[in-house]
Amino acid sequence: MIVRKTAAELEKMRNSGLLVWKVLQELGRMVGEGVTTLDLEHAAEKMIRDAGARPAFKGYYVPAVGAKYPFVLCTSVNDEIVHGMPSAKRVLKSGDVVSVDIGVELEGYYGDSAATFPVGKISPEVERLLRVTREALELAIDKARPGNRLFDICGTVQRHVESNGFSVVREYVGHGIGTQLHEEPQVPNYVDRSNENPRLKEGMVLAIEPMVNAGKPGSRLLPDRWTAVTKDGSYSAHFEHCVAVTSNGPWVLTRP
Ligand code: MF3
Ligand code: CO
Repeated sequence: MIVRKTAAELEKMRNSGLLVWKVLQELGRMVGEGVTTLDLEHAAEKMIRDAGARPAFKGYYVPAVGAKYPFVLCTSVNDEIVHGMPSAKRVLKSGDVVSVDIGVELEGYYGDSAATFPVGKISPEVERLLRVTREALELAIDKARPGNRLFDICGTVQRHVESNGFSVVREYVGHGIGTQLHEEPQVPNYVDRSNENPRLKEGMVLAIEPMVNAGKPGSRLLPDRWTAVTKDGSYSAHFEHCVAVTSNGPWVLTRP
């Protein structure tokens, strides 16, 4: 069942969304050579708690892994796609990219957003990967309108990514969001005709999150059982926003 939110609930989700945006902005400013992904983790945890919110990922049970995620952030570097874990040993260097994914719960409502940040000077091809992934998200956001269907979002991401020679990850998908971090429907970054294709209605809120590999779409898990990396070692990018479907069009909750 897809839970639709009232205007009052959307205002609550807006507060969560703006907090997520603020923290992600600050983390983006912090990213640079010599910074560790654990530095980002600590800064994020402090900002979230100072705002009276709760980190949504830390302690979140993920059935596919059969364990609770142990950190506030996912920090996925270079060929890491998603669920990379913050570490004091991961010192960012020029040419790296780091995907920072953050979720919070504030007054019972969730916000979730991600962005991939360049470190120092990155190659033109990696710059293009980040741009195309960001564009895919923006084009998909524009499809979050009453009367459209879920596949309009999925297909828009897939088309933009593949027409630029990159590939979408199949194993991880976006999701509905509200009083739970993960609600129905799943929001894949590709069209699979065997999936459901619900019509989008006012009050639905979707976390749209293209995960895009520069090379082939395949992923594998590291021995830590969390970190998903590209099979072919190519770089991967991840951008995510929470978007409400409203009669006035898409409302991106996770930015001003
Ligand atoms: N944005 C990702 C998602 O929605 C990150 C979740 S991390 C988790 O699935 F550990 F909490 F699952
Ligand atoms: Co998400």
